[in-house]
Amino acid sequence: MAIERVLSGMRPTGNLHLGHYNGVLKNWIKLQHEHECLFFVADWHALTTHYDTPEIIEESVWEMVIDWLAAGVDPANATIFIQSRVPEHAELHTLLSMITPLSWLERVPTYKDQQEKLSSKDLSTYGFLGYPLLQSADILVYRATQVPVGEDQIPHIEFTREIARRFNHIYGKEKGFEEKAEAAIKKLGSKRGALYEEMRTAYQRSGDEEALDSARAMIEEQQGMSMGDKERLLGYLEGGGKMILLEPEYKLTPASKMPGLDGQKMSKSYNNTISLRENSDSVTKKINTLPTDPARGRRTDPGDPAKCPVWQLHEIYSDQSTQDWVQSGCKSASIGCIECKGPVIEGVLKELKPIQERAAQYAEDPTLVKNIVAEGCEKARKLARETMRDVRDAMGLNYS
Ligand code: TRP
Ligand code: SF4
Repeated sequence: MAIERVLSGMRPTGNLHLGHYNGVLKNWIKLQHEHECLFFVADWHALTTHYDTPEIIEESVWEMVIDWLAAGVDPANATIFIQSRVPEHAELHTLLSMITPLSWLERVPTYKDQQEKLSSKDLSTYGFLGYPLLQSADILVYRATQVPVGEDQIPHIEFTREIARRFNHIYGKEKGFEEKAEAAIKKLGSKRGALYEEMRTAYQRSGDEEALDSARAMIEEQQGMSMGDKERLLGYLEGGGKMILLEPEYKLTPASKMPGLDGQKMSKSYNNTISLRENSDSVTKKINTLPTDPARGRRTDPGDPAKCPVWQLHEIYSDQSTQDWVQSGCKSASIGCIECKGPVIEGVLKELKPIQERAAQYAEDPTLVKNIVAEGCEKARKLARETMRDVRDAMGLNYS
């Protein structure tokens, strides 16, 4: 069936760390080989919460793109761009705002949650309330089919689906759509026309996907029929009119198993991260001061890896034989915690080394990075323009 188009964004609010790498970025890197992918810097979204610290955003935008590239997001396989360089996002946001009930925005759970969590900031702003709608515009403007996100973002994708549905419901029908569709059926001829009706009924009554597929194939193959009539017949199959905006699906990002330096999830807000740009001394020091199983107060006290964040790191970075060595050595107190941390430090440094080398190369060549992004913005804009033409049409804005 339809080919997938994957879209995701990240807010530029600081350094990327190993949690991002082991969660989001590894997932993006895998997806870029499987589907068409668009990845963008959500700088307007960052402004909704960081409107009073624009310097953080400005600095983070390029650093973040460098981190993506260094981690392995490949401009030959994915379109990399910046939200604010594609003004169509803002245009669609404005147009969608016309049909967005305030109550839908107010009941998105992140609205109240984030306001409480970030209580030091005044987030009773128009921009912050509209955060999910801006996100909807990001997604719908590309007719993306799949949106990889973390669990916290699922309500935003569901909200987006509701907005797309509402939009299609209000604007998806041209005047006299039913009559025009019926006339197009007649043009199929009596035999094919009857077959079309039969398959349409089978799909609408009992959701018969096979009937839907064969009807679609029949219409595509139909010779000498105008594009407009084909569109109408395709739209009429599913009941409504034209699908102007596409309902996306979310694709849950596998949770990162990367623990932070205090054993909680690695996150900037917990101040427990190892950044992708961290130097080796600092990595070594941070891991060496990581808490371990409190039962091992003395070197001779046995411990349990299940109660130790260092073990979680071994699960990511160590092979089977090292893991066996940790399990038995910890439980029998035959190894000490510093000794146990050695292979983890080595593993993290080995992972970071090529990333940091590539980051240094990109950092030395800002023109290269800017060109990659400029090219990505252009590609993205082309896609966005196509959608906006249909949206403006539907909303009566294509004056001529
Ligand atoms: N809100 C997302 C986050 O905080 C970032 C984002 C903005 C996004 N626009 C998007 C993610 C569109 C996916 C699709 O993680
Ligand atoms: Fe943790 Fe390793 Fe120490 Fe056991 S030996 S408590 S797994 S650091």
